[in-house]
Amino acid sequence: MTSRTVRLGLLGCGHVGSALVRLVTRNRDEIEVRTGVRLEVTRVAVRNLARERDVELSADVFTHDGAAVVTAPDVDVVVEVIGGIEPAREHIVEALKAGKPVVTANKELLANVGRELFETAEGAGVDLLFEASVAGGIPLIRPLRESLAGDRIRRVMGIVNGTTNYILSRMAESGASFSDALAEAQTLGYAERDPTADVEGFDAAAKAAIIASIAFGARVVAGDVYREGISELTGADIASAAGLGYTVKLLAIAAESPAGIEVRVHPTMIPASHPLASVRESFNALFVEADAVGQLMFYGRGAGGEPTASAVLGDVIDAAKNVVSGARGATVGTLVRKPIQAIDEVESQFYLQLEVADRPGVLAAIAEQFGRRGVSIKSMQQIGIGDDARLVFITHLAREADLRATIHALREVGTVHRVGSILRVVGDET
Ligand SMILES: NC(=O)c1ccc[n+]([C@@H]2O[C@H](COP(=O)([O-])OP(=O)(O)OC[C@H]3O[C@@H](n4cnc5c(N)ncnc54)[C@H](OP(=O)(O)O)[C@@H]3O)[C@@H](O)[C@H]2O)c1
Repeated sequence: MTSRTVRLGLLGCGHVGSALVRLVTRNRDEIEVRTGVRLEVTRVAVRNLARERDVELSADVFTHDGAAVVTAPDVDVVVEVIGGIEPAREHIVEALKAGKPVVTANKELLANVGRELFETAEGAGVDLLFEASVAGGIPLIRPLRESLAGDRIRRVMGIVNGTTNYILSRMAESGASFSDALAEAQTLGYAERDPTADVEGFDAAAKAAIIASIAFGARVVAGDVYREGISELTGADIASAAGLGYTVKLLAIAAESPAGIEVRVHPTMIPASHPLASVRESFNALFVEADAVGQLMFYGRGAGGEPTASAVLGDVIDAAKNVVSGARGATVGTLVRKPIQAIDEVESQFYLQLEVADRPGVLAAIAEQFGRRGVSIKSMQQIGIGDDARLVFITHLAREADLRATIHALREVGTVHRVGSILRVVGDET
């Protein structure tokens, strides 16, 4: 077989970019044998030309000028691994308009201006591939848009942020507090010095928006995603959940029903027997439910230079094969406007803890407040006696607005001393 050389222009050569260059160097011959395409990195844009980089490339490949990489005649495929919105957006648009396929790992960009980019790619008739933007090395985008293209996806639930999963694993397994577990994650390099994007759920929300867009063919942006982080969770919440047979995870949930699209990120209690409950430390996983195929789970490394570069390289090979054959890969297609459900309308089961007076009639007064708002109790347990008595409830599926109204009313009941933690319960719908 005669092979064709396809030349790559990289925008960025940091964790992911440099791992990609090393992977191309290491696997070049094998990729050529398997695909008939020989990959060559011809241009690389970086911010700091003086920085030492662990890649086998000659110095004259590097430039400050991202725009020059995109327009260079010796670049066939553009790989954007700078991150952030600008100048990444500008360079990608320019590349697509010039008829060059683009591979990106940039979740922030896609979750905010994805539609503009997809439409530009569609208009130009070139590939825009972004497997690494959700859950790093784990294949999800291609399965959703190709393998499951003929099925009806109902729900995707994922652990898509390794930092928060590490923190929650430590809190559950060693009884560490949130701040101690965060400090440990920072020491190990799993958490940034400013951990806000991870612990407050912004990173997961961007990924949830991309997942919802691809799974349901809908226009969903990061701002549509209901979001709560994990910084308010206590060790007591996690221990109490464990006592009831649940594990607490930060889940990104995207679902479609006749009422519209539901897309949210929040700490969630899932049954300890659920496949997502066994995902520990900094691993990621996505649990997909679809009509015909049933349940699927994808598990692996959701971040890190090498795992992410593996997903980027898969896309690069697809784009390169299409450059050679003149074909195009599967596209995102038209993203239509679909109603996004307000969190008040979304149904979940709920866990709630009440500190109550331990005397006759208390339970009846509490049950009445649930009943009046149509929130049905699935189970109730009393923990402790006397002044320490706590009641722990798990509800059946209830609208968020009804649960909130119930809590408001419970605060007015004289024998309820305090309404403690409230967590949503998912994956246990019966
Ligand atoms: N790291 C991961 O585990 C991971 C996982 C999934 C997805 N991603 C995504 O992958 C992308 C890259 O992440 P990363 O961790 O590799 O980031 P990084 O280590 O910070 O690398 C960014 C690179 O972009 C270069 N750069 C920054 N501004 C530039 C500009 N204006 N023009 C040209 N080059 C510029 C930097 O140059 P200098 O080297 O000179 O500073 C650096 O080489 C992001 O979108 C990220 O969200 C990363």
